[in-house]
Amino acid sequence: MKKIGVLTSGGDSPGMNAAIRAVVRTAIYNGLEVAGIYRGYQGLLEGDIEPLTVSSVGDIIHRGGTMLRTARCLEFKEEEGFQRGLAMLKMFKIDGLVVIGGDGSFNGAKRLADAGFPTIGIPGTIDNDLAYTEFTLGFDTALTTVVNAIGNIRDTSSSHGRVNIIEVMGRHCGDIALYGGLAGGAEAVIIPEIDTDMDDLCQTILRGKKRGKLHSIILLAEGVGKPYEVAEQIKSKTGSDVKVSVIGYLQRGGTPTPSDRILGSRLGAYAVDQLIAGKAGRAIGIKGNQLVDIDISEALSMKKDYDKEIYELARILAI
Ligand code: F6P
Repeated sequence: MKKIGVLTSGGDSPGMNAAIRAVVRTAIYNGLEVAGIYRGYQGLLEGDIEPLTVSSVGDIIHRGGTMLRTARCLEFKEEEGFQRGLAMLKMFKIDGLVVIGGDGSFNGAKRLADAGFPTIGIPGTIDNDLAYTEFTLGFDTALTTVVNAIGNIRDTSSSHGRVNIIEVMGRHCGDIALYGGLAGGAEAVIIPEIDTDMDDLCQTILRGKKRGKLHSIILLAEGVGKPYEVAEQIKSKTGSDVKVSVIGYLQRGGTPTPSDRILGSRLGAYAVDQLIAGKAGRAIGIKGNQLVDIDISEALSMKKDYDKEIYELARILAI
């Protein structure tokens, strides 16, 4: 292995820059060259590829987003596009690839690995929706943003005596809502993995009001959606004034937390170690604070479930 490529693909997530920096510097430390592939698989197809040096990745560890930029590339999913991608890797003399992204990006990585091209996947997504790893890169920062938003909204919620619904991202996964709700002391969490008993939820709100509680915060995962319909239901069952905030892309940006910077650094270095060790088609992640690697096809086939203990705890503490 002489030269490795690195790309970020799909939705960006805070901590991706720390991972890129670690890939580049670990590779150079081990005598390898690094090619930075811009705009994910799209940039690969277009040959938007440049050498990266130690200083190319200076002053980025604290920045949100991804210096390599990103894209969602449909063309790479087609056979013709995929073959062009493989040809580009050959043309730029790239011997191994690190893909930083979520499950869509991992599908591309798996396909490359199946075609015999050494590829390693780093889980970069705020969604925390990959079952094989306890945490994905960017989740901690997104949670921090959500918890800050809860704090701000709680102030105005208390002043007005309102119920405030906060819709958070996560695609089909409720983890941002669930962990954000627990950390932010929300009155209720509504996630797509489990049906919510709206009568029960409204009873919690009414109980709180009765004992003098001034605010009610409800975290709603985007996978459930329909925040304004949920607001109408709560309004008619509790008589409360209910407001909705969809915080959207605010959750995707911002300075990565120390945890995400450390996780990105560890995953980036580990990905390079894997390639140097001759491994291919692996998804790397973290479990019990230990770095782990599993077959990328297996990683993609695992079904993510919500953490029942955390859900139950959030429910009990909101009594
Ligand atoms: O996967 C990350 C994510 O932010 C999801 O939470 C969200 O559903 C999606 O990306 C939004 O994607 P886009 O940037 O294409 O609008």
